[in-house]
Amino acid sequence: MDVGCGPGLVMDLLSPLMDITGTDIDPMMVRKAKGRGLNVVQGDAMALPFDDRSFDIVYCSFTLLWVRDPAKAVEEMARVSRRYVICLAEPDYGGRICCPQEVAELDGHLTDSLIEEGADPFVGRKLTQLMKGAGLTVESGVHEGLWSSEQLMKEADAEWLSIADAVRGRASDAEVEKAKLAWDRGVADGSLFLFNPVLYAIGRKR
Ligand SMILES: C[S@@+](CC[C@H](N)C(=O)[O-])C[C@H]1O[C@@H](n2cnc3c(N)ncnc32)[C@H](O)[C@@H]1O
Repeated sequence: MDVGCGPGLVMDLLSPLMDITGTDIDPMMVRKAKGRGLNVVQGDAMALPFDDRSFDIVYCSFTLLWVRDPAKAVEEMARVSRRYVICLAEPDYGGRICCPQEVAELDGHLTDSLIEEGADPFVGRKLTQLMKGAGLTVESGVHEGLWSSEQLMKEADAEWLSIADAVRGRASDAEVEKAKLAWDRGVADGSLFLFNPVLYAIGRKR
């Protein structure tokens, strides 16, 4: 079962391998996932609309950072699972490394904007404890998360737009302009560097 399945991109990847049910709190996401032919029901991660022990594996990705009470969500995931609870991927913006420095100086604005939107940008570091709190035995780690230069060059424009959008109204125009010039220089001479840690945790019921 996929908790916070969004439009169903991860379900799409996994559904050739197993039967998957998705759930998401947002009716628009539920409609989109259903539109791809996926089996999805609307529901809140903090009160999953399923009986105890309904699924072998219950997983989520990039969901816990948006959930108001992630401890409750993991507890619910453990309740409806027979065996495994897997947090496939949750970011931790506190470990972000960005070069050039002018762009790194926007990082604080980036985390502030996520917090204002209701997210926890530091949820990655909490995964192990969240799992243990739900009574699971846990194995956790970090995905590689390093952007290759090819990926950076391909996605540099979109990534800059998302940074600029997030910091708008927080960073001054001068800070954003300085960062953009440094970003463009980094793209031109290949020195742009981004590391966004994304963590995982695999929990097993005792
Ligand atoms: C960033 S998207 C991730 C989508 C998908 N898991 C993926 O990795 O592509 C986060 C999703 O979590 C959903 N979400 C947020 N809070 C939720 C909650 N309390 N219960 C269920 N879904 C929730 C949002 O509606 C959104 O679709």
